[in-house]
Amino acid sequence: MKEKLEAMKAQALAELATVGTEKEVQDLRVKYLGKKGELTGLMKGMGSLSPEERPLIGQLVNSVKDTLEEKVEAALAAMRDSDKQERLRIERLDISLPGRRKAIGTLHPLTIVIQEISEIFSSLGFQTAEGPEIELDYYNFEALNLPKDHPARDMQDTFYVSENVLLRTHTSPVQIRTMLKHAPPVRIIAPGKVYRRDSDVTHSPMFHQIEGLMVDKNINFGDLKGILTIFINQYFGSGTSVRFRPSFFPFTEPSAEVDIACVICKGKGCRVCKNTGWLEILGSGMVDPEVFRHVKYDSESVTGFAFGMGIERIAMLKYGINDLRLFYENDLRFLSQF
Ligand code: DAH
Repeated sequence: MKEKLEAMKAQALAELATVGTEKEVQDLRVKYLGKKGELTGLMKGMGSLSPEERPLIGQLVNSVKDTLEEKVEAALAAMRDSDKQERLRIERLDISLPGRRKAIGTLHPLTIVIQEISEIFSSLGFQTAEGPEIELDYYNFEALNLPKDHPARDMQDTFYVSENVLLRTHTSPVQIRTMLKHAPPVRIIAPGKVYRRDSDVTHSPMFHQIEGLMVDKNINFGDLKGILTIFINQYFGSGTSVRFRPSFFPFTEPSAEVDIACVICKGKGCRVCKNTGWLEILGSGMVDPEVFRHVKYDSESVTGFAFGMGIERIAMLKYGINDLRLFYENDLRFLSQF
């Protein structure tokens, strides 16, 4: 009996050494240790043993059983571990490999300029207003003190849709629309697209402007100068020199064009400022009483100032862009720089 047990143990261990899969190990366990397995079979023969032999053989059976259980478990654990190692090897990730970056868009430089300027005026209490790009002659010209035969209409070559409908030539009609809708005080800026029959290296038939309007009791030219100087210092840097030059617009009286010291040469004179040291950046003035008459504001009790600037020009100066067409070509090499 003892020999049989030892032989069975040796046989089982030898077989265990040759198996390759988990399934084979499990089969082996059933073959030797299962209910109908070889060990159980051998134990059945214990009945014929003498009382002295029985406990000894019993002990041996248990120890063989324990050893086999242990070896089977160890074999299974080793297999699972090597399976895991193999899976890790196959599924290995190179975490040092740079990921694929998604190309995300950027804001258009003109959008950036509009947002930055709007933010500055917003901090000064100005709200944003809008108006249509297809506009009535009345709002674009007439109510801005530019009657039908007025020579200043020639300053702005207009796209007409019909006799009284046109593509707005400036953002100034938003002044009229705002004042017709709201009683004073008014403090707005109005960014948007405008259109003129003009197309060459420095002109595009569509471009952008920002209009500004402030109307209240006792607004004077000092307020105009103050607000615009604050804006220029915030946008172009504190200490930027500002110059107000007398000018003419039909809708303002008096009118002023505003220059800043050339951002390229700082006033010394260069090609960009045509050697003047100055760059014109906006038109402005005190709202003409004739404009107030059209929107039924009482020019005896309120006064105001207005201004308008071209956004492309501001963007070109701010970023040192020398070709207007770059804004409209949608070339990613240009756009992704902002
Ligand atoms: N609308 C003018 C233009 O397109 C710019 C302008 C000048 C607007 C003076 C104003 C202003 O509001 O007061 O050239």
